[in-house]
Parts: sequence; structure tokens; C-alpha cells
Amino acid sequence: LLKRVESSKRKAAYKAVKDYLDPSYKRIGIGSGSTVVYVVEAIAALGPDVTSGMIFYPTGAQSEELIETAGLTLQPINKLPSGQQLDVAFDGADEVDTRLNLIKGGGACLWQEKIVATAAKKFVCVADYRKLSPRLGISWRKGIPIEVLPMAAPRVLDELKRIGSENPKIRLGLPGKAGAIVTDNGMWIIDAPFPPLMFPDDDEKRERVQNAANGVWFVDDLADHLIKIPGVAEIGLFSGKNGQEVATGAQKPVAAYFGMEDGKV
Ligand code: A5P
Repeated sequence: LLKRVESSKRKAAYKAVKDYLDPSYKRIGIGSGSTVVYVVEAIAALGPDVTSGMIFYPTGAQSEELIETAGLTLQPINKLPSGQQLDVAFDGADEVDTRLNLIKGGGACLWQEKIVATAAKKFVCVADYRKLSPRLGISWRKGIPIEVLPMAAPRVLDELKRIGSENPKIRLGLPGKAGAIVTDNGMWIIDAPFPPLMFPDDDEKRERVQNAANGVWFVDDLADHLIKIPGVAEIGLFSGKNGQEVATGAQKPVAAYFGMEDGKV
């Protein structure tokens, strides 16, 4: 199984790079996680003739390391001047629904990932077949990752429970060791499970959902609510405008590549 998953990630990554990395591009965002490893591998395989004119912007410490080890030119995202955009950004996801809403942050890098994704003209998602899901919250059961100011964590937990999250928890660090995971930004992560998230245009269910205080939320309503909780720095829901609808600032990708079980992409 592991071999099949890894080979599906690799195939999706190579295809995404082939389709979306134009050799004329100068500024490229590189996400985090185990799938992005193959994205960087595919880019490095193009050789210095193609890559030497490119600058790569990471989404965190792991991503930084990947770029450097591959011999590519690294620059932090704060060095992308105001008024400029990344040509493209590639990143993985923990779950992708059929409208390309994403859950991200399984690797605790969601804040910088959202900054990089929304800085790109084109954000491209790369994943394996296990991530594809009819609704967010079905295949990824651990909950929506939420990056919080540590001092606000108990209050954020209270609000999450109030709005129907089932047993939200502060993400812990090493097994057997006390203490929360600390993000690249000095924050904590709360994982907040919700029942599967509805689509805004899912009219049939709208009335029932809105009348029930049962924690059933529409993706965009939940995103709007979560981001406004005091102490929340960023949320691992990538939703709202589609990458095809807006020139920049989209949290949803323009395309998602899935390596499938049968070896296809
Ligand atoms: C990191 O914070 C996440 O958003 C990753 O993009 C996600 O966990 C994907 O990782 P894998 O490619 O390892 O599944």
C-alpha cells in the first residue's frame, strides 16, 4: 500500500509540474508535506537550464530545506516585493472536496501555506487518491487545523465547542512528551472536527442545516466564523473564490492533481 501511495504522489507531482511550470516563470511557491517532495524532485529534474532563472518561496522550515537541498534558489516570502505575485505555487492537502475546497495544516504549516497560495497567480494542488472526498471532514477525520495564539487556546476551544465542533483538541508534540506542537510562527494548533461540510449552493439541504444547531456548517460560513474568533491566527480551511475566478488571492486551487490507485493521474 505504501508503495502505491508514494508512486501515486510522485505521478501527480510530475504531471502538475509538467502542466503548470512554464519555463518562463520566475517566482514559484513550494508548499509542505510529503507530496511536495516529489514536486521539488520534478522541478530539479528539469535541470539548471530551466531552473537557474527561478526563485523559490517556501511555506515553512521543511519546505525551505527541500528547496535548498535540491540546489534551487531560495527566498522567503517577505522578500517578494509588494505589488508582485508568484507565477505559480504547488502544495499538497489533507483533504480535497469536489469543489476544490481544501483542508490543510496536517503538517502544521497552514498559515504560511495560505500566504504563499494566495500570493500566486495560479495555485496548484497535488495529492494522492486518499485525499479526494465528497465533503470535507469525511476522509480527514482529525479535524480542521486552526493556528492559535497559545494564550487564547482555552477560549478558542470553548467557542469551537459552542459552534458544534466534536471534541476539538490542542495538537500535542512528541508521543509520550507533554506539551503542544509549536508552529514555525510560535503558535499552537487546535484540531477541530466538524460533521462533513456542506456546499453553499447545496440548496436542498440549506433549510434543514440552518435550522439545526447541530454543528453542520457550510464551508464558507464556517471559514468566516472561525477566522474571526479572537486568538485565531489562521485556519486550515482553504475556501471561497476559485482560482479560475480571480487573478490572485484565491485560496482554492486552479487545479488539483490526484495520483489514483490504478496508476493514473
Ligand atoms: C501541511 O501543513 C499540510 O497542509 C500539507 O500540505 C498536507 O499535510 C499534505 O501533506 P502530505 O503531502 O504529506 O499528505
